[in-house]
Amino acid sequence: MLLVAAVTVAPHALSQNLLPKPKSVTWQHGTFSRYKACAVEAANATVGKLAAEAGLPDVTAEGDSTWTEAGVRRLRYLALDASAGEEAYTLRVAPDTIEIAASSTAGFRNAKATLRQLEVKRGVACCTISDAPALGWRGAMLDVSRHFFPIEFVKKQVDIMARFKMNRLHLHLTDAAGWRMEIKRYPRLTQLGAWRTEASWKKWWAGNRQYAEEGTEGAYGGYYTQEQLRDLVAYAAERGITIVPEIEMPAHSEEVLTAYPEFSCTHEPYKQADFCPGNEATFTFLENVLREVMDIFPSKDIHIGGDEAGKASWPTCPLCQKRVADEGLADSNALQGYLVRRIGKFLREEGGRTLIGWDEVLADSLQNATVMIWRDTSYIRQAFAQGLDVVLAPGRFCYIDGFQDDPPSQPEAMGGFQPLSNVYSYQPLAGFSAEERKHIRGIQGNLWTEYVPTTEHVEQMLYPRLLAIAENGWTGGEVKDYDDFRARALLAVEELRDEGVNAFDLKHEVGDRAESRTPVEHLGRGAKVTYNLPFNERYCADGVTSLTDGRRGGWDYGPRSAWQGFIRGQRFDVTLDLGKTQELSRIVTNFYQSSGPEIFLPAEYIISVSTDGEHFTTIHSRSQAVEKLTNPSVEQWEWKGTTEARYVRVQAKPGQYGGWIFVDEVEIY
Ligand code: ACM
Ligand code: ZN
Repeated sequence: MLLVAAVTVAPHALSQNLLPKPKSVTWQHGTFSRYKACAVEAANATVGKLAAEAGLPDVTAEGDSTWTEAGVRRLRYLALDASAGEEAYTLRVAPDTIEIAASSTAGFRNAKATLRQLEVKRGVACCTISDAPALGWRGAMLDVSRHFFPIEFVKKQVDIMARFKMNRLHLHLTDAAGWRMEIKRYPRLTQLGAWRTEASWKKWWAGNRQYAEEGTEGAYGGYYTQEQLRDLVAYAAERGITIVPEIEMPAHSEEVLTAYPEFSCTHEPYKQADFCPGNEATFTFLENVLREVMDIFPSKDIHIGGDEAGKASWPTCPLCQKRVADEGLADSNALQGYLVRRIGKFLREEGGRTLIGWDEVLADSLQNATVMIWRDTSYIRQAFAQGLDVVLAPGRFCYIDGFQDDPPSQPEAMGGFQPLSNVYSYQPLAGFSAEERKHIRGIQGNLWTEYVPTTEHVEQMLYPRLLAIAENGWTGGEVKDYDDFRARALLAVEELRDEGVNAFDLKHEVGDRAESRTPVEHLGRGAKVTYNLPFNERYCADGVTSLTDGRRGGWDYGPRSAWQGFIRGQRFDVTLDLGKTQELSRIVTNFYQSSGPEIFLPAEYIISVSTDGEHFTTIHSRSQAVEKLTNPSVEQWEWKGTTEARYVRVQAKPGQYGGWIFVDEVEIY
């Protein structure tokens, strides 16, 4: 009788090393030892070449007959049916053989990344893996305009991204805060447009927003030479990553229009953020710039920005108005669509490239373009209706410039609470039909750097949140197990930190606001609330029951949170009916403040009580000057004393900045 060795198929501790999670893994006992000789073989010359291109060991042992003897260990490359997907691979690790099958360099590269994660002390853990990504675009965007980061640092991020099977690095190369790519034809873009008078974006933006000549004292900024960028492109390509360049138009272009004011409507420096789409010279400029961009970046997709155009100068510009008339456009707003279509055509005809832009590019009759969704996901449907592809980067899940942890403990951030769990929770494919899914090219995490001045801070913001993007892009994010993901992310963070990457210390994550985790019991629970002034429809929380439902808000104040918003300039004014007169000793109102989105603490706060609902007595009032604090915080404003009442009226009035008042609960004890 033959004895068959037991094979473990239960999840192995090593599963925790695998990120993104492969489609299928079966563990076996044993390891392929790294200390013994090993022959490298290929089933055919093609796979041998693909594997070598992927950076796997080359087939060098050919002709050495010792390798073909029985018992010799092998690393063997095999062909995989292309129907498994271009990036697919299978991997079989046994004590005497590693077999990798793939149909492309990318497939072998993915296998190599997995092998690295299978490494144990003495070798590679035995297993069988069959794997392929759900989505083809697994990207990160780095904003190198608001703050500038050296090319070596960008390469370091490429290395990290490749380990997690990411394949697009989108560089936001141009914006008001600095132009970052050498353009030979227009040297002023970098001589002036790449330098500013303040290192801190925040100070510069709040201050005079002046540019500085390259080399002058105190000038902050920098740019990448074309040589550096070519080198970066090659470096990234070797690691399976395409660098996607973004050149902003028609807006976010203050730096261009100060260096070359003739491309704005008024021809004055320091006046415009938007190009003049009425002027033919603008198109000559943009096309010349894009020619140099296409020369450096082989990416099929060329990002043209397109977001947040103010269009302020277009209605009164004679050239713009002439263009509106000549082209039969509805109004000057339609000039954006004109520009985007024209640039798309140029990229296609001149370079065989495809336009990709932020979702504002969804101008009528745009064709052969990819839309990068950043605002509301409703724009996805709009893109599909126009037959366009999308890359998904909705701010709610994919912007990694928000606070990663408890805001009072974190460096200043753009706003919003964006912990790892929230990034991970994104389901990019949910709600879309099989047909629609074909138009979802992938997902991307975006790091804007207004508040991210240093390389250390960039890494702190990127990792581990980018790993959640990598995982959701690879798996499609349909099956969620946050505990499992977090355990893997913790190991990845430890490894990155050991290697000198300043990843956020996930192990010591504080998490969401403690008060939000359990409901609060108080006398007012369930009390009927009369809104003497209405809450905002968008920030409605749970509606009329929200302030007395015991649910306290976390750090997210968004529309699905427990925070109810009261609109600009209006008072917060509610009356609670406790059902019967009773003795009260304490009343607490929780106020959220975050000066970025203009949510402020009140300037005035009044509590009055009544037994009949008509005659109210003020028992507490408080007034203060409103301050703009840097990081979000929550304050509990409290009255303590003794009173008898059935009705409690709470009023709060905004201060000198107007803005919003946000309340989650009025607690009565
Ligand atoms: C963007 O966040 N303005 C694309
Ligand atoms: Zn104009």
